[in-house]
Amino acid sequence: MSFKVIGTGTCLPQKVVTNDDLSEFVDTSDEWIFPRTGIKRRHVCTTETLDDLAISAAQKAVEMSGIDPGQIGLVVCSTTSSDHPIPSVACVVAGSLGIECPAYDVYIACSGFVHGLEIADGYFARGRAKYALVLSAEKCTRLVDWSDRSTCVLFGDGAGAAVIEATDDESLPMRGWTKAGFELTLPGQPSKSPYDQHPADYGDSLAMNGRAIFRFAVKAINKEVKALAAEAGIDYHDIDHYIFHQANERILSFAVDHLGIDNDKVVRTIQETGNISSACIPIAMDKLNREGKLHDGDLLCLVGFGGGLSVGSCLIRWQS
Ligand code: ACO
Repeated sequence: MSFKVIGTGTCLPQKVVTNDDLSEFVDTSDEWIFPRTGIKRRHVCTTETLDDLAISAAQKAVEMSGIDPGQIGLVVCSTTSSDHPIPSVACVVAGSLGIECPAYDVYIACSGFVHGLEIADGYFARGRAKYALVLSAEKCTRLVDWSDRSTCVLFGDGAGAAVIEATDDESLPMRGWTKAGFELTLPGQPSKSPYDQHPADYGDSLAMNGRAIFRFAVKAINKEVKALAAEAGIDYHDIDHYIFHQANERILSFAVDHLGIDNDKVVRTIQETGNISSACIPIAMDKLNREGKLHDGDLLCLVGFGGGLSVGSCLIRWQS
Protein backbone atom coordinates (compact mmCIF):
# COMPACT_ATOMS: atom_id res chain seq x y z
CA MET A 1 0.00 0.00 0.00
CA SER A 2 1.34 3.44 -0.81
CA PHE A 3 -0.55 6.41 0.37
CA LYS A 4 -0.32 9.04 3.04
CA VAL A 5 -3.03 10.65 5.12
CA ILE A 6 -3.09 14.39 4.51
CA GLY A 7 -6.27 15.41 6.32
CA THR A 8 -8.61 14.05 8.98
CA GLY A 9 -11.93 15.19 10.40
CA THR A 10 -14.64 14.24 12.86
CA CYS A 11 -18.22 15.26 13.47
CA LEU A 12 -20.17 14.15 16.52
CA PRO A 13 -23.76 15.18 17.18
CA GLN A 14 -24.34 17.84 19.82
CA LYS A 15 -26.39 15.83 22.29
CA VAL A 16 -24.48 13.81 24.85
CA VAL A 17 -26.28 11.02 26.70
CA THR A 18 -24.64 9.70 29.86
CA ASN A 19 -25.10 6.30 31.43
CA ASP A 20 -27.12 7.97 34.17
CA ASP A 21 -29.38 9.52 31.51
CA LEU A 22 -30.04 6.05 30.10
CA SER A 23 -30.84 4.64 33.51
CA GLU A 24 -33.83 7.01 33.63
CA PHE A 25 -35.69 4.91 31.05
CA VAL A 26 -33.78 1.61 30.76
CA ASP A 27 -33.13 -0.83 33.61
CA THR A 28 -29.39 -0.19 33.73
CA SER A 29 -26.78 1.87 35.58
CA ASP A 30 -23.38 3.44 35.23
CA GLU A 31 -22.19 0.82 37.72
CA TRP A 32 -23.12 -1.93 35.24
CA ILE A 33 -22.15 -0.21 31.98
CA PHE A 34 -18.78 1.40 32.72
CA PRO A 35 -16.88 -1.55 34.24
CA ARG A 36 -18.11 -3.92 31.50
CA THR A 37 -17.69 -1.66 28.49
CA GLY A 38 -15.58 1.40 29.35
CA ILE A 39 -18.40 3.65 28.10
CA LYS A 40 -19.43 6.73 30.10
CA ARG A 41 -21.35 8.69 27.47
CA ARG A 42 -22.19 8.78 23.78
CA HIS A 43 -23.22 11.40 21.22
CA VAL A 44 -26.71 10.92 19.81
CA CYS A 45 -28.33 12.47 16.74
CA THR A 46 -31.32 14.68 17.43
CA THR A 47 -31.58 17.41 14.80
CA GLU A 48 -28.59 16.18 12.78
CA THR A 49 -28.98 13.76 9.89
CA LEU A 50 -26.34 11.22 9.04
CA ASP A 51 -25.59 13.25 5.92
CA ASP A 52 -24.92 16.31 8.10
CA LEU A 53 -22.34 14.38 10.12
CA ALA A 54 -20.68 12.92 7.04
CA ILE A 55 -20.49 16.26 5.22
CA SER A 56 -19.06 18.04 8.24
CA ALA A 57 -16.37 15.39 8.91
CA ALA A 58 -15.46 15.37 5.20
CA GLN A 59 -15.21 19.17 5.05
CA LYS A 60 -12.85 19.21 8.03
CA ALA A 61 -10.63 16.55 6.47
CA VAL A 62 -10.53 18.34 3.11
CA GLU A 63 -9.80 21.65 4.79
CA MET A 64 -6.88 20.14 6.71
CA SER A 65 -5.52 18.50 3.56
CA GLY A 66 -5.19 21.87 1.84
CA ILE A 67 -6.17 20.42 -1.53
CA ASP A 68 -8.91 21.71 -3.78
CA PRO A 69 -11.92 19.34 -3.51
CA GLY A 70 -11.86 19.10 -7.32
CA GLN A 71 -8.60 17.13 -7.02
CA ILE A 72 -10.39 14.26 -5.23
CA GLY A 73 -10.85 11.33 -7.58
CA LEU A 74 -12.85 8.99 -5.34
CA VAL A 75 -15.21 9.20 -2.37
CA VAL A 76 -15.88 6.02 -0.39
CA CYS A 77 -18.13 6.06 2.66
CA SER A 78 -18.52 3.16 5.05
CA THR A 79 -21.95 2.99 6.67
CA THR A 80 -24.51 0.44 7.75
CA SER A 81 -26.90 2.97 9.23
CA SER A 82 -27.62 5.52 6.52
CA ASP A 83 -31.04 7.14 6.50
CA HIS A 84 -31.33 6.33 2.78
CA PRO A 85 -29.41 3.66 0.88
CA ILE A 86 -30.09 5.72 -2.25
CA PRO A 87 -28.53 8.15 -2.84
CA SER A 88 -25.47 6.80 -1.13
CA VAL A 89 -23.97 8.93 1.62
CA ALA A 90 -20.82 9.19 -0.49
CA CYS A 91 -22.83 10.71 -3.35
CA VAL A 92 -24.34 13.26 -0.98
CA VAL A 93 -20.91 14.15 0.39
CA ALA A 94 -19.43 14.46 -3.11
CA GLY A 95 -22.32 16.72 -4.08
CA SER A 96 -21.77 18.91 -1.03
CA LEU A 97 -18.12 19.32 -2.03
CA GLY A 98 -19.13 20.12 -5.61
CA ILE A 99 -17.25 17.18 -7.12
CA GLU A 100 -18.35 14.56 -9.65
CA CYS A 101 -15.91 11.69 -9.14
CA PRO A 102 -16.99 8.08 -8.41
CA ALA A 103 -18.66 8.01 -5.00
CA TYR A 104 -20.24 5.06 -3.26
CA ASP A 105 -20.87 3.43 0.08
CA VAL A 106 -19.40 0.22 1.41
CA TYR A 107 -21.50 -1.86 3.73
CA ILE A 108 -19.33 -4.04 5.90
CA ALA A 109 -20.02 -2.78 9.42
CA CYS A 110 -17.20 -1.97 11.83
CA SER A 111 -14.31 -2.89 9.52
CA GLY A 112 -15.60 -0.64 6.73
CA PHE A 113 -13.18 2.27 7.03
CA VAL A 114 -10.16 0.04 6.50
CA HIS A 115 -11.84 -1.61 3.52
CA GLY A 116 -12.52 1.89 2.16
CA LEU A 117 -8.79 2.63 2.36
CA GLU A 118 -8.06 -0.57 0.46
CA ILE A 119 -10.54 0.35 -2.29
CA ALA A 120 -8.88 3.76 -2.61
CA ASP A 121 -5.47 2.11 -2.70
CA GLY A 122 -6.69 0.06 -5.68
CA TYR A 123 -7.71 3.25 -7.50
CA PHE A 124 -4.26 4.67 -6.76
CA ALA A 125 -2.53 1.52 -8.01
CA ARG A 126 -4.37 1.79 -11.34
CA GLY A 127 -3.67 5.49 -11.62
CA ARG A 128 -7.39 6.27 -11.42
CA ALA A 129 -7.01 8.85 -8.68
CA LYS A 130 -4.31 10.85 -6.92
CA TYR A 131 -6.45 11.84 -3.93
CA ALA A 132 -9.34 10.04 -2.26
CA LEU A 133 -11.77 10.92 0.48
CA VAL A 134 -12.47 7.90 2.68
CA LEU A 135 -15.01 8.32 5.43
CA SER A 136 -17.33 6.47 7.79
CA ALA A 137 -20.64 7.80 9.02
CA GLU A 138 -22.84 5.90 11.41
CA LYS A 139 -26.13 6.60 13.16
CA CYS A 140 -26.19 3.42 15.24
CA THR A 141 -28.84 4.83 17.56
CA ARG A 142 -31.48 4.44 14.83
CA LEU A 143 -30.81 0.69 14.68
CA VAL A 144 -30.94 -0.44 18.28
CA ASP A 145 -33.97 -1.43 20.31
CA TRP A 146 -34.08 1.24 23.00
CA SER A 147 -35.85 -1.13 25.39
CA ASP A 148 -33.04 -3.71 25.10
CA ARG A 149 -30.46 -2.82 27.73
CA SER A 150 -27.97 -5.36 26.38
CA THR A 151 -27.47 -3.35 23.15
CA CYS A 152 -28.79 0.22 23.45
CA VAL A 153 -26.18 1.21 26.03
CA LEU A 154 -23.28 0.31 23.74
CA PHE A 155 -23.71 2.55 20.71
CA GLY A 156 -23.46 6.16 19.61
CA ASP A 157 -23.46 8.28 16.43
CA GLY A 158 -20.74 10.12 14.53
CA ALA A 159 -18.60 10.42 11.43
CA GLY A 160 -14.88 10.39 10.72
CA ALA A 161 -13.05 11.15 7.49
CA ALA A 162 -9.59 11.10 5.94
CA VAL A 163 -8.17 12.53 2.74
CA ILE A 164 -5.40 10.32 1.42
CA GLU A 165 -2.85 10.91 -1.31
CA ALA A 166 -1.14 8.30 -3.50
CA THR A 167 2.62 8.06 -2.99
CA ASP A 168 5.47 6.05 -4.48
CA ASP A 169 6.81 5.20 -1.03
CA GLU A 170 7.10 1.86 0.72
CA SER A 171 4.18 -0.48 0.28
CA LEU A 172 2.78 -1.57 3.63
CA PRO A 173 0.44 -4.51 4.17
CA MET A 174 -3.34 -4.39 4.11
CA ARG A 175 -5.44 -7.37 5.05
CA GLY A 176 -9.10 -8.32 5.03
CA TRP A 177 -11.12 -11.44 5.62
CA THR A 178 -14.55 -12.63 6.60
CA LYS A 179 -15.99 -15.50 8.56
CA ALA A 180 -19.69 -15.64 7.83
CA GLY A 181 -21.53 -15.55 11.12
CA PHE A 182 -24.76 -14.38 12.68
CA GLU A 183 -23.35 -13.21 15.99
CA LEU A 184 -24.28 -9.65 14.98
CA THR A 185 -27.35 -9.07 12.82
CA LEU A 186 -29.30 -6.15 11.46
CA PRO A 187 -32.61 -6.52 9.61
CA GLY A 188 -33.31 -4.74 6.34
CA GLN A 189 -36.59 -3.09 5.40
CA PRO A 190 -39.50 -5.56 5.37
CA SER A 191 -40.15 -6.84 1.86
CA LYS A 192 -42.96 -5.13 -0.02
CA SER A 193 -43.22 -7.88 -2.64
CA PRO A 194 -46.58 -9.74 -2.74
CA TYR A 195 -44.61 -12.78 -4.00
CA ASP A 196 -42.01 -12.88 -1.28
CA GLN A 197 -42.63 -15.79 1.07
CA HIS A 198 -39.39 -15.39 2.93
CA PRO A 199 -40.00 -14.32 6.51
CA ALA A 200 -37.97 -11.54 8.09
CA ASP A 201 -35.39 -13.66 9.87
CA TYR A 202 -33.46 -10.97 11.63
CA GLY A 203 -35.95 -9.40 14.03
CA ASP A 204 -36.51 -5.67 13.87
CA SER A 205 -33.39 -4.24 15.49
CA LEU A 206 -29.70 -4.81 15.77
CA ALA A 207 -29.03 -7.99 17.76
CA MET A 208 -25.82 -9.56 18.97
CA ASN A 209 -24.24 -12.32 20.95
CA GLY A 210 -21.87 -10.17 23.00
CA ARG A 211 -19.69 -12.98 24.31
CA ALA A 212 -19.18 -14.53 20.87
CA ILE A 213 -18.25 -11.11 19.47
CA PHE A 214 -15.81 -10.63 22.32
CA ARG A 215 -14.03 -13.89 21.52
CA PHE A 216 -13.94 -13.08 17.81
CA ALA A 217 -12.63 -9.56 18.43
CA VAL A 218 -9.72 -10.47 20.68
CA LYS A 219 -8.63 -13.25 18.33
CA ALA A 220 -8.90 -10.92 15.33
CA ILE A 221 -6.76 -8.19 16.92
CA ASN A 222 -4.12 -10.68 17.98
CA LYS A 223 -4.00 -12.31 14.55
CA GLU A 224 -3.97 -9.06 12.58
CA VAL A 225 -1.27 -7.30 14.58
CA LYS A 226 1.05 -10.28 14.28
CA ALA A 227 0.25 -10.91 10.59
CA LEU A 228 0.72 -7.28 9.57
CA ALA A 229 4.04 -7.07 11.41
CA ALA A 230 5.22 -10.34 9.86
CA GLU A 231 4.27 -9.16 6.35
CA ALA A 232 6.06 -5.86 6.91
CA GLY A 233 9.09 -7.61 8.40
CA ILE A 234 8.95 -5.71 11.67
CA ASP A 235 8.51 -6.47 15.35
CA TYR A 236 4.98 -5.41 16.29
CA HIS A 237 6.35 -3.75 19.41
CA ASP A 238 7.87 -1.16 17.04
CA ILE A 239 4.39 0.03 15.99
CA ASP A 240 3.81 3.49 17.42
CA HIS A 241 -0.01 3.68 17.52
CA TYR A 242 -2.68 1.00 17.57
CA ILE A 243 -6.05 2.20 16.30
CA PHE A 244 -8.47 -0.63 17.00
CA HIS A 245 -12.23 -0.60 16.55
CA GLN A 246 -13.78 0.74 19.75
CA ALA A 247 -16.33 -1.93 20.63
CA ASN A 248 -15.51 -2.41 24.25
CA GLU A 249 -12.72 -1.30 26.61
CA ARG A 250 -12.33 -4.87 27.83
CA ILE A 251 -11.48 -5.97 24.30
CA LEU A 252 -8.81 -3.26 24.09
CA SER A 253 -7.37 -4.11 27.53
CA PHE A 254 -7.33 -7.78 26.68
CA ALA A 255 -5.38 -7.03 23.49
CA VAL A 256 -2.86 -4.94 25.43
CA ASP A 257 -2.28 -7.75 27.92
CA HIS A 258 -2.25 -10.54 25.39
CA LEU A 259 0.13 -8.82 22.97
CA GLY A 260 2.22 -7.26 25.73
CA ILE A 261 2.06 -3.84 24.10
CA ASP A 262 2.32 -0.45 25.74
CA ASN A 263 -1.15 0.56 26.93
CA ASP A 264 -0.52 4.20 25.93
CA LYS A 265 -0.03 3.18 22.32
CA VAL A 266 -3.66 2.02 22.09
CA VAL A 267 -5.90 4.99 21.39
CA ARG A 268 -9.24 5.15 23.18
CA THR A 269 -12.36 7.11 22.33
CA ILE A 270 -14.90 4.65 23.65
CA GLN A 271 -15.40 6.31 27.02
CA GLU A 272 -16.71 9.47 25.37
CA THR A 273 -18.39 8.10 22.24
CA GLY A 274 -19.41 4.49 22.78
CA ASN A 275 -19.28 2.19 19.79
CA ILE A 276 -19.87 4.10 16.51
CA SER A 277 -19.28 1.06 14.30
CA SER A 278 -17.02 1.86 11.34
CA ALA A 279 -16.66 5.53 12.32
CA CYS A 280 -14.59 4.62 15.40
CA ILE A 281 -11.29 4.19 13.56
CA PRO A 282 -11.23 7.45 11.56
CA ILE A 283 -12.48 9.36 14.61
CA ALA A 284 -9.69 7.86 16.75
CA MET A 285 -7.12 8.70 14.06
CA ASP A 286 -8.40 12.27 13.88
CA LYS A 287 -8.17 12.56 17.67
CA LEU A 288 -4.51 11.50 17.64
CA ASN A 289 -3.81 13.81 14.72
CA ARG A 290 -5.46 16.90 16.20
CA GLU A 291 -3.83 16.27 19.59
CA GLY A 292 -0.45 16.40 17.81
CA LYS A 293 0.41 12.81 18.75
CA LEU A 294 1.23 11.62 15.22
CA HIS A 295 4.80 12.36 14.14
CA ASP A 296 6.62 12.02 10.86
CA GLY A 297 7.63 8.38 10.39
CA ASP A 298 5.27 6.95 13.02
CA LEU A 299 3.81 3.57 12.19
CA LEU A 300 0.07 3.18 12.73
CA CYS A 301 -1.74 -0.17 12.94
CA LEU A 302 -5.48 -0.11 12.17
CA VAL A 303 -7.67 -3.11 12.96
CA GLY A 304 -11.42 -3.06 12.32
CA PHE A 305 -13.62 -6.04 13.20
CA GLY A 306 -17.31 -6.67 13.51
CA GLY A 307 -20.49 -7.64 11.70
CA GLY A 308 -20.17 -10.11 8.89
CA LEU A 309 -18.17 -11.25 10.67
CA SER A 310 -15.50 -9.16 9.00
CA VAL A 311 -12.00 -7.90 9.61
CA GLY A 312 -9.93 -5.23 7.87
CA SER A 313 -6.45 -4.18 8.95
CA CYS A 314 -3.48 -2.22 7.67
CA LEU A 315 -0.27 -0.44 8.56
CA ILE A 316 0.13 3.23 7.66
CA ARG A 317 3.32 5.28 7.78
CA TRP A 318 2.49 8.77 9.02
CA GLN A 319 4.04 11.58 6.99
CA SER A 320 3.76 15.20 8.04
N1 ACO B 1 -27.51 -3.03 32.42
C1 ACO B 1 -27.76 -3.92 33.42
N2 ACO B 1 -27.78 -5.23 33.23
C2 ACO B 1 -27.53 -5.69 32.00
C3 ACO B 1 -27.27 -4.84 30.92
C4 ACO B 1 -27.28 -3.46 31.17
N3 ACO B 1 -27.03 -2.55 30.21
N4 ACO B 1 -27.05 -5.59 29.82
C5 ACO B 1 -27.18 -6.87 30.19
N5 ACO B 1 -27.46 -6.93 31.50
C6 ACO B 1 -27.70 -8.12 32.30
C7 ACO B 1 -28.36 -9.23 31.52
O1 ACO B 1 -29.76 -9.06 31.49
C8 ACO B 1 -27.93 -10.43 32.28
O2 ACO B 1 -28.72 -10.53 33.41
P1 ACO B 1 -29.19 -11.98 33.97
O3 ACO B 1 -27.91 -12.67 34.34
O4 ACO B 1 -30.06 -11.63 35.12
O5 ACO B 1 -29.91 -12.64 32.84
C9 ACO B 1 -26.53 -10.07 32.75
O6 ACO B 1 -26.43 -8.63 32.70
C10 ACO B 1 -25.44 -10.64 31.85
O7 ACO B 1 -25.79 -10.37 30.48
P2 ACO B 1 -24.84 -10.72 29.30
O8 ACO B 1 -25.46 -10.29 28.00
O9 ACO B 1 -24.43 -12.14 29.44
O10 ACO B 1 -23.66 -9.73 29.62
P3 ACO B 1 -22.13 -9.90 29.37
O11 ACO B 1 -21.49 -10.22 30.64
O12 ACO B 1 -21.87 -10.79 28.20
O13 ACO B 1 -21.73 -8.42 28.98
C11 ACO B 1 -21.15 -7.19 27.00
C12 ACO B 1 -22.29 -7.81 27.83
C13 ACO B 1 -20.52 -6.10 27.84
C14 ACO B 1 -21.72 -6.59 25.75
C15 ACO B 1 -20.15 -8.32 26.71
O14 ACO B 1 -20.76 -9.40 26.07
C16 ACO B 1 -19.01 -7.86 25.88
O15 ACO B 1 -18.07 -7.32 26.39
N6 ACO B 1 -19.09 -8.06 24.56
C17 ACO B 1 -18.07 -7.64 23.63
C18 ACO B 1 -18.63 -7.31 22.32
C19 ACO B 1 -19.21 -5.94 22.25
O16 ACO B 1 -19.01 -5.09 23.07
N7 ACO B 1 -19.92 -5.73 21.16
C20 ACO B 1 -20.39 -4.45 20.80
C21 ACO B 1 -20.93 -4.39 19.44
S1 ACO B 1 -20.22 -5.46 18.29
C22 ACO B 1 -18.93 -4.75 17.51
O17 ACO B 1 -18.78 -3.55 17.50
C23 ACO B 1 -17.97 -5.59 16.76
